[in-house]
Amino acid sequence: LPDAEVLIVSNREPYIHNRDGDRTEVQIPASGLVSALEPVMRACGGTWIAHGSGNADRDTVDSHDRIEVPPDHPSYRLRRIWITDEEQDGFYYGFANEGMWPLCHIAFVRPTFRESDWKAYQRINERFAAAVVEEAKTDNPIVLVQDYHFALAPRMIRDRLPKATIITFWHIPWPNAETFSICPWKEQIIDGLLGSTILGFHTQFHCNNFFETVDRFVESRIDREHATVTLSGHETMVRAYPISIEWPPAALDGQPPVETCRREVREALGLAADVRIAVGIERFDYTKGILDRMKAVDDLLTRQPQWKRQLVFVQVAAPTRSKLSSYSTLQDDAVALADDINRRHGSDGYKPIVLLIRHHSAREVFKLFRAADVCIVSSLHDGMNLVAKEFAAARDDERGVLVLSSFTGASRELSEALIVNPYHVHETATALDTALRMPEHEQQERMRAMRQQIREWNVYRWAGRMLIDAATSRRRQRILD
Ligand code: G6P
Repeated sequence: LPDAEVLIVSNREPYIHNRDGDRTEVQIPASGLVSALEPVMRACGGTWIAHGSGNADRDTVDSHDRIEVPPDHPSYRLRRIWITDEEQDGFYYGFANEGMWPLCHIAFVRPTFRESDWKAYQRINERFAAAVVEEAKTDNPIVLVQDYHFALAPRMIRDRLPKATIITFWHIPWPNAETFSICPWKEQIIDGLLGSTILGFHTQFHCNNFFETVDRFVESRIDREHATVTLSGHETMVRAYPISIEWPPAALDGQPPVETCRREVREALGLAADVRIAVGIERFDYTKGILDRMKAVDDLLTRQPQWKRQLVFVQVAAPTRSKLSSYSTLQDDAVALADDINRRHGSDGYKPIVLLIRHHSAREVFKLFRAADVCIVSSLHDGMNLVAKEFAAARDDERGVLVLSSFTGASRELSEALIVNPYHVHETATALDTALRMPEHEQQERMRAMRQQIREWNVYRWAGRMLIDAATSRRRQRILD
């Protein structure tokens, strides 16, 4: 795609500037979307348009709200968009995270749809679409629209830049048509998305759900063979592009050997050198099955008390969206459950569950991955789940076992993990036991296969496949013109 201009639209920004006293700190947020797209932008350059969410964000941009990033080696531009607290309540907390998020994740949290949130969602989608037009230097840029915060933006951009190549990626699952019909504005959401040139999901299953939803609610032509939907003469390709991580991961740079990580992490947590560690690392989100995996640890310690004092489960949970009661309640419930399990199974300073509620940098996370014997990803539903891939990427010693929920996109690719139904506590506990007892040669065989898969299907390939499809579409368009 020589000379093509690349613009990204996402809610979450890759670098957040926060002031703490006199010091300004740069934080990289815990977001699968950011971890996947940041290396791609570093490699290809362009402009990333996102919500300026840090308390020092305004002080670090130029008069056009732009800043060159990454801060130490600038290679692309970040354009920040300002959103008031009231708009944020409607757009982000309301429509995106109380409506679309539970709607698309079947985690049995009832979606809430309010008229006022919908208005804010429309308004903010307009604001980002206008920023794309402002930032574009050509009439046919490649615009990468990210996630459920921006279902309306593709159509709004298409109306103003008819020749743009709009690639929209939906980072979360797409439910079946019956479930999606809960959304009072389903037709508008679908119409907005069909402004895209390419619409990507993680799995073919989600593409099929999308086709079924379009078929039920919008007058259009669906061509299953070519995987396209045509609405009012405009064709959208709908394809599966499983997202991944950069290879080799930057967070692995300069990491001490695994043995050192094992020792240092155990020392820092006040654990004996031979204690086995299982880890769980994510945002404190109800879709991640954090309570369910703690119950699995409880079940294992109850049925097999010989693991007491031998096993510690470390859960790192970054606070997220805490303004919503569905999130703050989860945090309270997790703390109460950890206390209860520690009271029943702990003794003399031994606590089987260590709950670390704070944001950890990618380097800290990788160190913990390298120190662990097992990583548990027990999402109740997840589009892909990059934690699973990061754990395998961190293990260049080819040791460690991944226990992985069958309700993640990642489980389709990482079949050498111990795949579990996270709703089945006993099954997850049994998998944890198997993981802890797995012979080294078997760990190696499984880990090697998973690492090979991720190396080959890394995030550059994810972006590359979408851009190749974009190039094909641009060529066809040129011939038609
Ligand atoms: C998921 C979403 C992303 C989002 C991330 C973090 O991975 O798909 O769009 O950025 O969660 O959530 P937050 O609300 O903090 O951006």
